Amino acid sequence: MNVVADPTDFGARPFPAALVNVTNRCNLECKHCFVFREGNPNASIDRMDDETMLRQLEVLRDRHGIKNMLFMGGEPMVRRKLVLAGMDLFEQGSMVTNGTYGIPCAPGHLVTVSLDGPPDENDAIRGSGVFSRVEQSIRARDRDDGTVVMLQMTVTKKNAPSMERFVEAVADWPVDGVAFSFFVPHEGERSELAWDTNEERDEVLDRVVALKGKYPDLVKTSLDTLALMRSDRCLEFVGDNCTLKSMLPLYVGEGGVFERTFCCYGNDVDCDRCGAYAVFNAGRHRAERSADSEG
Ligand SMILES: C[S@@+](CC[C@H](N)C(=O)[O-])C[C@H]1O[C@@H](n2cnc3c(N)ncnc32)[C@H](O)[C@@H]1O
Ligand code: SF4
Ligand code: SF4
Repeated sequence: MNVVADPTDFGARPFPAALVNVTNRCNLECKHCFVFREGNPNASIDRMDDETMLRQLEVLRDRHGIKNMLFMGGEPMVRRKLVLAGMDLFEQGSMVTNGTYGIPCAPGHLVTVSLDGPPDENDAIRGSGVFSRVEQSIRARDRDDGTVVMLQMTVTKKNAPSMERFVEAVADWPVDGVAFSFFVPHEGERSELAWDTNEERDEVLDRVVALKGKYPDLVKTSLDTLALMRSDRCLEFVGDNCTLKSMLPLYVGEGGVFERTFCCYGNDVDCDRCGAYAVFNAGRHRAERSADSEG
């Protein structure tokens, strides 16, 4: 048996949640993807083999009390065996996938499938034919296999007009829900994808609220969280206050060992315009916990 080195020392603090980028390889080239931005650790080489990664994740789990591990990439399904074995190491394992390699059976775990609009809009971002490939895989899955499957649309200024058509297009799919997250621009970004100000994004949040009213069982986005994403509240939850700072983001760096990036969206991010739903949702839970402890 190979001797597997201990993982990088990230101190002793607990991290109930962590994410691991298992690969930078990907079969798609989505227009909005932060992974391939200049300055991120994104060379498409896997510098850590399956055995080493699984062993190191186990050590980190025990060292930091990690209960929830999110498997990310690149496209995590290019290392399918590793990811499925890895998810089983944690109380709650989850992965985000582009869905083009099929929908894995991962009982007790969460598989989030990314699609960024109805067929025309999605394929302009994710590539020709991707929407229908993903639809076929989702329709072919066994809905009773114990895996929780969610769809996630990453909303940008450009694809926002198609949100309603997206929900209509997937309304009868065998999934557990639809989620929305919003674009995270790089520092100083002025592009067709990024809202210049958070005030401009408010109108889009209002439309998610309306969609939740129309499809209450399908759209899982929390109205309370959406309220915190509005321009009058959002800056309370980003930057130094970002709740994802209590999550350990693991990337495999140049030396073939785990490193952490500034943020799970890479190193060069504009926190003041962050649209990551998870940031605000976790911020809401933190605020509720502290209100409970004061009450
Ligand atoms: C980086 S991908 C990795 C997993 C997989 N390849 C996929 O596409 O789902 C994870 C999620 O990040 C989203 N994403 C990519 N670039 C983003 C950005 N700049 N801002 C916000 N979300 C982004 C993708 O749409 C996807 O839902
Ligand atoms: S599939 Fe995922 S990792 Fe690949 S380019 Fe698209 S968003 Fe980025
Ligand atoms: S960009 Fe990254 S660090 Fe900044 S608020 Fe968003 S998730 Fe947090």
